[in-house]
Amino acid sequence: MVKINEKIIIDLEPISRRVYLFEDKSIYEILVKIGIPIRSLCGGSGKCGKCKILFQKGQEYLNSPTDSERNFINNDDIKKGWRLACQSRIDKVYIQTLEREKSSPQFRIYLPDELVLEDFKILTSGVNKDIKLNPNVKKLYIEVDKPTLEKPVPDIERILTSIISIDENIEKADLITIDFDLLKNLSQILRQSNHKITVVIWDNRIIIAAEPGNTVEENFGLAIDIGTTTLVGYLMNLNNGKTYSVASKLNGQTAFGEDLITRITYIKDNEDGLQKLNSVVINNLNDIISKACSKANINPSQIYETVVVGNSVMHHIFLGLNPVNIGLSPYVPIVRKGLNVKSKDLMINMSNQGKVYTLPLIAGFVGADTMGVILSSKIDDEDSLTLAIDIGTNGEIIIGNKEILATASCAAGSALEGAHIEDGMRAAAGSIDSIKIDPETLDVSYTTIKNKKPMGICGSGLIDAVAEMLKAKILNRSGNFNKKNLDHERIIKSDKGLGFILVKKDETNLSKDIKISQHDIRELQMAKAAFYSGMRIILRYLNKSLNKNLKIQQVFLAGAFGNYINKENAKFIGMIPDISREDIFQIGNDEGRVAKNCLINKDLRKKAEELYEKIQYIEIATKKEFQKEYAEAMYFPHMKLLEFFPSLKEYEDISIR
Ligand code: FES
Repeated sequence: MVKINEKIIIDLEPISRRVYLFEDKSIYEILVKIGIPIRSLCGGSGKCGKCKILFQKGQEYLNSPTDSERNFINNDDIKKGWRLACQSRIDKVYIQTLEREKSSPQFRIYLPDELVLEDFKILTSGVNKDIKLNPNVKKLYIEVDKPTLEKPVPDIERILTSIISIDENIEKADLITIDFDLLKNLSQILRQSNHKITVVIWDNRIIIAAEPGNTVEENFGLAIDIGTTTLVGYLMNLNNGKTYSVASKLNGQTAFGEDLITRITYIKDNEDGLQKLNSVVINNLNDIISKACSKANINPSQIYETVVVGNSVMHHIFLGLNPVNIGLSPYVPIVRKGLNVKSKDLMINMSNQGKVYTLPLIAGFVGADTMGVILSSKIDDEDSLTLAIDIGTNGEIIIGNKEILATASCAAGSALEGAHIEDGMRAAAGSIDSIKIDPETLDVSYTTIKNKKPMGICGSGLIDAVAEMLKAKILNRSGNFNKKNLDHERIIKSDKGLGFILVKKDETNLSKDIKISQHDIRELQMAKAAFYSGMRIILRYLNKSLNKNLKIQQVFLAGAFGNYINKENAKFIGMIPDISREDIFQIGNDEGRVAKNCLINKDLRKKAEELYEKIQYIEIATKKEFQKEYAEAMYFPHMKLLEFFPSLKEYEDISIR
């Protein structure tokens, strides 16, 4: 029988999978057990040397390297934490020490690309930080004493007595209140169900609903991620944390403007603008709720709590609050702290007595989505100074560790989501997600999502395309086409300027070539320059205010397609700093995950409420050095190549102009 030790946690990167220790098993055996297929030629007998892994944390608690490891890994690498998965195991003598270790995970293992089989990587998305169940809404089944002439005790008092008799967490009846709307119906529900009811208790202190009979198993909640372009809802059972169904919809507000500023302008210019955009988002959400509920075969009235995560503007519009001041200097929201609002006040299609919780914002343009990245990446628990970038319509940057936490929003544009790119598209079946260019022949090889015929380029494909065009010297470092290659058949000239054909039209169903234009390259340059210069400005601010010389030690890539980016190429184009690939982690789409986690664990909401007090927000665009930093970062990878990207030797042969 395998003994699983839940006190000892191992994080596997870059797939962001968290597992518990299987005692007496090698790391190879643990990986196989949890269904991560890894490449091995010897079946784990230490003879092929293929199963190399890197312990980024916890190597001191392993068995000593075996002869076979010494055979395949040199001493220096062993010291750095490289081991063979099939030979390394956690030494039994340290188990108790590790169990007492407060900071988890106790181990972090990097699984190199060549180790993990491709299919698995594609299926994995997002950080899987196991979350304890501690929902804000609970249900209790009670059998209430009937009133008698001898004891004419009011209904609510008899209900409270029953609750206290079965729930040890609720000690005093006077700590509990009852929702006024429920009071009006309570006696009827009680009598119609022969005094056998299920009470719904919110935050251990308010009885918000009562249902006839025993419905304890049907404790549902909804986690909603309101993105600028997409809305996603997750219907969950709060008793076991399981997601029962997922539904999504494009945000109908795009009809009023693709980005946040355009939507704010619409609200400013139209008397009924706010009301219109609010009803669009509420209708969209109600559609999502109907879809999710019908998939799971439940009634929306069975949902008692919804947690909403979104950027500041989406948050305000959802609540019916005017976001106009978020768009005007000094960019302040109306409210920052987390709110609990009655569902009926927002017209959300769930129980009328239900509550909607919105996660706190950080600042004007830094919303609860950024809080989500902080919560799920646990950047505030890190020892190393970490840069997290949230790659989405609005680029958000966070720099922090255990001691400091600073954030800023940058105008990264939506190039990386495919918008404004001539042949761009979202990451979906048929989008080109990775590209290689032969530097001699300029022949292109590529892959598409789900192996469908190519239809367009998504963000990861765009980053690859530009990186490969640089390596093949089709482009120079300023992002212009290199004059030398202009007569190649793949380079075309149109009224929009020069372009490079990635896929010829006979390979597509589009009857047109898929190409990268000069304009597309500029869009990418602007996005990556926004991230890099934003990072530099936050860092400079921190160094100045703390009188230190801080350097980024690791990078977390968040956002919907954070997991699909080629990390080397993201660095190659200068979107992230020059650090080793082992220190770049892809943490996927966190917003939905955070809404889900906050739904099933109310302690996380408390943490978010504490964090927003601690986070420093930096307004990048108003800093005097911004223009210069941005202009320098427009170069690939940066104007100051040797100073900021010394490891990128390939650039020695690529001209600057
Ligand atoms: S699997 Fe062959 S050496 Fe580990």
